[in-house]
Amino acid sequence: MNVLTSFAYLAASALFILGLKFLSSPKTARRGNLLGACGMLLAIVVTLTDKKILDFTYIIAGLIVGGLIGTILARKVQMTAMPQMVGMLNGFGGGASVLVAYAEFLRMGPASGASLDVLVTIVLSLLIGSVTFTGSMVAFAKLQGIMRGAPILFPLQKQLNAVQLLAVLGLGVYFVTDPSQGYLLLVVIAVAALLGIMSVIPIGGADMPVVISLLNSYSGMAAAATGFVLSNNVLIISGTLVGASGIILTQIMCVAMNRSLANVLFAGVGADYEGAADGEAAQRTVVRYTPEDAAFMLENAQSVIIVPGYGLAVAQAQHVLQELALILTSRGATVRYAIHPVAGRMPGHMNVLLAEANVPYDLLLEMDRLNDDFQNTDVVLVIGANDVVNPAARYKKNSPLYGMPILNADRARTAIVSKRSLNPGFAGEDNELFYARQTMMVFGDAKDTVTSLVQLLKG
Ligand code: TAP
Repeated sequence: MNVLTSFAYLAASALFILGLKFLSSPKTARRGNLLGACGMLLAIVVTLTDKKILDFTYIIAGLIVGGLIGTILARKVQMTAMPQMVGMLNGFGGGASVLVAYAEFLRMGPASGASLDVLVTIVLSLLIGSVTFTGSMVAFAKLQGIMRGAPILFPLQKQLNAVQLLAVLGLGVYFVTDPSQGYLLLVVIAVAALLGIMSVIPIGGADMPVVISLLNSYSGMAAAATGFVLSNNVLIISGTLVGASGIILTQIMCVAMNRSLANVLFAGVGADYEGAADGEAAQRTVVRYTPEDAAFMLENAQSVIIVPGYGLAVAQAQHVLQELALILTSRGATVRYAIHPVAGRMPGHMNVLLAEANVPYDLLLEMDRLNDDFQNTDVVLVIGANDVVNPAARYKKNSPLYGMPILNADRARTAIVSKRSLNPGFAGEDNELFYARQTMMVFGDAKDTVTSLVQLLKG
């Protein structure tokens, strides 16, 4: 590698780090994305020009085919299907690491006398990459509804997974001590692939966003290991950045749900819990209100907090919601949005959705900043949110939501809840807020309801 290449790799790495820094705030996220993309372009161009061993015909063909598929997928995918799309792309990252590391092993040949670190990192690339690939495909299938979202559990499952992990590590060590046994690498790939499937099936669909973030971290680690195999600094750095940021994001999500990562991975949460069917819900009654009733309350409100949730994304009601917020503001009300860290189905889901509707960033307030204000608020408008405002999280010890910090929507003077039915949210837990005296349930698609509110308030 010449000096120029090293400098270009350093510049690309600096762009990645700056990109990540900018991505940490919605205001600068676009710039961050652009910087990261520039870094990647620089890294790719320099790699292609530096390693003159490559046949550009295949590379250009790959670019065209891959670029075309990527463009079509990105344009077609619904916002609500973004988590599974990210899951699938993580999987491809892991799969690519497997292919590159194995191809490098074949290129070197078993008798090449490769150094210990290269052999170890080949095994690590194959192991982590293969687990990432199949684990991500299971996560994708669960979120896409191709396979059952509920945890799939059977006796001695954890022990079996431990045996697979030990087996794959044992095989790896054996290969490192005797690299002439190249076939062992194929066994490592196969056992790790099985381990990826087996370790994701016991996790409930509700926890898939956390799993996807963890697998994202794995894909970064696999790429970093492949970077060592290829002695490619920019791959080591970018893989490590992905690995570290994925694990930090996983941790943030676990903290937001007040659960440990071990609980998410091994507890099989969601397997046998039937929150809505526990008898209490059946006995309670709920009062239906019309958009007219809700408009009347909003007309007289001085302070309004909007709580968006996954249903807002499903209904694509963000634009009309912001129109409503502007009308209320023009009438003299204070309107703010309360953003729960795990509202929706992926980190930052609500921020992205509301940014699309040009909601000013300073109106998007995080839970900690707003939670004490609910009690002094006239109306909280809950749009397609459920678990993130479910008071069961505070006291119901056997609930999957127990311990998760929630938005105190039940403490506002009036709560207007827009959703289509009394169905529970992601966690399957019935929501006491719907039955509270101060709650007005307005049933129907969120976009229809908010559109009616806008028309009524304009009228
Ligand atoms: P949910 O609890 O899933 O509730 C969304 C509600 O939206 C549903 O109850 C649904 O009720 C309603 N809905 C769906 N389509 C609608 C439409 N067209 N119009 C109106 N309402 C509609 O969502 P949440 O409150 O945002 O909570 C997020 C959940 O995801 C939490 O359990 C959280 O732990 C989990 N999770 C999230 C993440 C991240 S990073 N975001 C990570 C891990 C886990 P109806 O069917 O009655 O309409």
